[in-house]
Amino acid sequence: MPSFSAVATVLATSLWAASGAWAQVAYEEPTSGVTYKVAIPEVDAAPFDMIVSIEAPASAGWAGFAAGGCMLRSPILVAWPNGNSTVVSPRWATAYHPPALYNGTTAKVLSSSTSNSTHWTASVLCTGCSKWDGGALDPKGNATFGWGVSSHAVDSPSNPASSIRFHDVGKSHFEVDLSQARLSKDNFDALLKTLGG
Ligand code: HEM
Ligand SMILES: *[C@@H]1O[C@H](CO)[C@@H](O)[C@H](O)[C@H]1NC(C)=O
Ligand SMILES: *[C@@H]1O[C@H](CO)[C@@H](O)[C@H](O)[C@H]1NC(C)=O
Ligand SMILES: *[C@@H]1O[C@H](CO)[C@@H](O)[C@H](O)[C@H]1NC(C)=O
Ligand SMILES: *[C@@H]1O[C@H](CO)[C@@H](O)[C@H](O)[C@H]1NC(C)=O
Repeated sequence: MPSFSAVATVLATSLWAASGAWAQVAYEEPTSGVTYKVAIPEVDAAPFDMIVSIEAPASAGWAGFAAGGCMLRSPILVAWPNGNSTVVSPRWATAYHPPALYNGTTAKVLSSSTSNSTHWTASVLCTGCSKWDGGALDPKGNATFGWGVSSHAVDSPSNPASSIRFHDVGKSHFEVDLSQARLSKDNFDALLKTLGG
């Protein structure tokens, strides 16, 4: 696990708005106003499926979540608005260039994902985000995630393979206590259902 010296960490354990019933790990990134939420099942080790939710102001053209912390060699989810819904594209980068589509991750966009004139929200069930070539998340420990946000709309919103432009709004890392994101199987399944899974 890489360590980051200048990581700005803010942990907010909040109620997941859509569910209301249980605590979740959430991080509101102040520069972009994008909030990242994570829920995981009550397991002891990766691999496991994760629920990841990205809530963004309309000013965000795309917002990315890197499960491994760094942009490089980490499962990345890039989300953007598309009509009244959202698209989530699994990516992987081996250099500081636009990340390519990644087939090691499946991102199922849940039907509660919406877009309107002020905000968009993408909630996904991610298979493959917890363990990858070169790393894994510890469901009972801390995790450092990466984020990146661009002000530019993607070129072809309906296409998960769309080209995307640089994260001019910002990019960095945040640390959360992943053990706080663990849910019993019943609660995980209930959250998934609430989000439209
Ligand atoms: C057009 C697509 C992209 C380009 C051209 C790009 C380019 C770069 C470059 C050049 C850097 C290092 C230089 C700097 O500090 O500015 C960087 C860092 C970073 N990028 Fe990207 N990036 C792209 C997409 C993404 C996406 C989708 C994410 C998703 C989270 C992301 C997350 C990060 C993070 C967290 C860093 C900090 C250093 C690290 O953790 O590796 N980037 N990017
Ligand atoms: C979203 O857009 C589709 C296609 O334009 C439309 O059929 C659907 O009713 C819209 N849904 C909402 C919630 O506005
Ligand atoms: C996934 O991508 C890797 C690397 O590009 C490739 O070797 C592999 O054949 C792909 N697998 C599938 C199922 O497409
Ligand atoms: C737009 O969507 C957000 C959730 O992403 C919601 O909180 C807000 O009320 C919606 N605004 C309108 C005008 O429907
Ligand atoms: C785990 O992350 C939390 C939230 O950022 C932080 O307060 C705490 O110090 C971290 N714990 C360890 C052992 O790094």
